[in-house]
Amino acid sequence: MKRVGFIGWRGMVGSVLMDRLSQENDFNFMESYFFSTSQAGTAAPKVKNGSPKLLSAMDIKELSSMDILVSCQGGEYTTEMFPALRNSGWKGIWIDAASTLRLKDDAIIVLDPVNRTFIQESIDKGVKNFVGGNCTVSLLLIALDGLFKENLVEWVSSMTYQAASGAGAKNMIELLDQMRSVGQAFNSNPSSEALELERQMTNLMNGESFPKANFGHPLALNVLPYIDSELPSGQSKEEWKAQVEANKILQTKTVIPIDGTCVRVGALRCHSQGLTIKLKKSASLSSVEEIISNANPWVKLVPNNKPDTLKELTPAAVSGKLHVPIGRVRQMTLGENFYNAFTLGDQLLWGAAEPLRCLLRQVLN
Ligand code: HSE
Repeated sequence: MKRVGFIGWRGMVGSVLMDRLSQENDFNFMESYFFSTSQAGTAAPKVKNGSPKLLSAMDIKELSSMDILVSCQGGEYTTEMFPALRNSGWKGIWIDAASTLRLKDDAIIVLDPVNRTFIQESIDKGVKNFVGGNCTVSLLLIALDGLFKENLVEWVSSMTYQAASGAGAKNMIELLDQMRSVGQAFNSNPSSEALELERQMTNLMNGESFPKANFGHPLALNVLPYIDSELPSGQSKEEWKAQVEANKILQTKTVIPIDGTCVRVGALRCHSQGLTIKLKKSASLSSVEEIISNANPWVKLVPNNKPDTLKELTPAAVSGKLHVPIGRVRQMTLGENFYNAFTLGDQLLWGAAEPLRCLLRQVLN
């Protein structure tokens, strides 16, 4: 059995990955070793074929005794340890959740439902570095898989509604802290008029005492239309990733433009996206729906009516689930080749942990 080392397995993405590996009995197919940056020598989590003690995530010798390393530790760790490992001569398979290596020529961005065949060819050719994609990109590609496979997409504009989890566990908790502050202030004035309450809440969220150490701004009762760093193009880095990563995953010969505004909203762990899709040629609504819904086992077409949409096409309905619903599919008044759609998915499952889990199983097979 292959020796697989896990780094950053305690964090949010790492924990979701551990849960999924257990649910799918994946630990049966490997010897598991757990690494820690701070608690080497203490007890490791108990899994089938797992080693009992934590190993040091900073020890190149211990790391390089693994056939496969899976890191959910974050970009700084990858930047520091990955080159050191490779320079030490380690030839194992590196599987990473962080974005650091995504666009390197010798790294494959993995998204099982979309590029499993290409991943297999890469494994067979001896590629050693595999990286999960940006969550928004991965979810978009699973939802529109059919249209891309049929080479129907001229361009996509994606307006995102991204959950707090994408910014990290601390931010997710901060959103709830902000909501608690709102709830406490509101409870003290239950009988006030709506406009008076609005004035109080706006003062509260803009006040010094509102908890915003991580976001820097209120997210509760608010939206934040800038995610990640600023780029000279005027895009945010999150917006820039959409086209670059999607085209790398799809291995397009001619770039398919994908652009839009990325917005943080007060959802917990589902990223949503409102899409405008320009098709290369006209296609009927029924054929577009059929192509979308038959593309892979995870995409789920939601009929474009109000009850189904509000029941199935919301973060409340999709949180913790593996399917990727897409709905509101209709021709737009902009022209016959323009389609509207709305899609969402769990940012920690297909958005982060699940592509890594599938890749690990594929490598082990
Ligand atoms: N960058 C994403 C976000 C999460 O901030 O929501 C990771 O892909």
